[in-house]
Amino acid sequence: DDAPLDNTLGLPCRAARLVAATTRDDIRQALAMARHDEAPLQVVGGASNVILPARLPGVTLQLACDDWWWHAVDEQTVQVHAEAGLSWHELVTACVEKGWWGIENLALIPGQVGAAPIQNIGAYGVELADVLEAVHVMYREDGREEVLPREACDFAYRDSIFKRSLAGRVVVTKIVLRLSRRPAPRLGYGDLAQRVSTSPTPHEIYTAVCAIRREKLPDPAVLGNAGSFFTNPVVEASHAERLLQEFPDMPHFPQPDGRIKLAAGWLIDRCGFKGQRCGAFGMHERQALVLVHFGGGDRPALLAWAERIRDAVQQRFNVVLEREPRLLG
Ligand code: EPU
Repeated sequence: DDAPLDNTLGLPCRAARLVAATTRDDIRQALAMARHDEAPLQVVGGASNVILPARLPGVTLQLACDDWWWHAVDEQTVQVHAEAGLSWHELVTACVEKGWWGIENLALIPGQVGAAPIQNIGAYGVELADVLEAVHVMYREDGREEVLPREACDFAYRDSIFKRSLAGRVVVTKIVLRLSRRPAPRLGYGDLAQRVSTSPTPHEIYTAVCAIRREKLPDPAVLGNAGSFFTNPVVEASHAERLLQEFPDMPHFPQPDGRIKLAAGWLIDRCGFKGQRCGAFGMHERQALVLVHFGGGDRPALLAWAERIRDAVQQRFNVVLEREPRLLG
């Protein structure tokens, strides 16, 4: 029953009842059990984007269904079906090996397929929403199933309906992607273009992305972390202009709505936190946006450290950072 729950931040956590579901019936049964016992229920994927308490009450559901399959839609297009419990990076690797275009920029993102649509995972100029066709969900309240087409998911930067009106109401069981055999390299982000040939294969881009991530981001198996700890803030153009007068080298990215996205990592770096450590926690020495856990810490201490970072950035730049990983339990 009471079982330890591994998580990439390396916080000690025991789950009162940990249930691994390998079929949709298993999921339905776990949901019914939690309802029957009036126990809280949470779903964890790879536990790579969550901040866990010392003890998780109720039922903790882990999805272990990890099949994937595909069929050709036409000569250029393939439809990929992937079950929620599959490792995201394994899926990316398999699709890249087939030579299909679409998710090669999203290599090496930790976690499971079912978690990908929740925060609309993104990296190196690509978001899941760019290739996602549908999300299959099961409602917690009655086990009924539904297929949500992309337009119904309200995807935005690190955001979706699963964090809003459907938060806590559904379990993602499967996603459907639309990939292409036609070359469509997306090399606009950072120095990606410099790292590949002029007409790269998906595999070349995948390899370059893996290399960049390994250079900048700590391996959770070695140093606890949950990737970026804050989302990149989007501010009014007037606010960005004021900041740019004082900090002309500040990275800034105009958005379609006229507002400006700033780099949270740069803001934190400029506050002097890069490579800083305070007890069990710190900010990574190569990417100030990644909060790291050296071991021996707990959730309250982590949240206090994160609060210090947030306060400093607010003081200095008048920008409020939003936490990216979710609090469970
Ligand atoms: N920067 C600094 N100092 C730092 C970190 C960053 O000056 O310590 C500057 C960089 O030089 C660059 C800018 O800030 O000009 C942006 O940095 P980077 O390219 O490393 O990307 P990011 O905005 O910090 C985002 C995602 C990552 C994703 C990368 C690549 C968010 C919250 N994070 O990071 O996603 O891998 O872009 O696309 O959007 C994650 O979500 O967990 C994650 C790792």
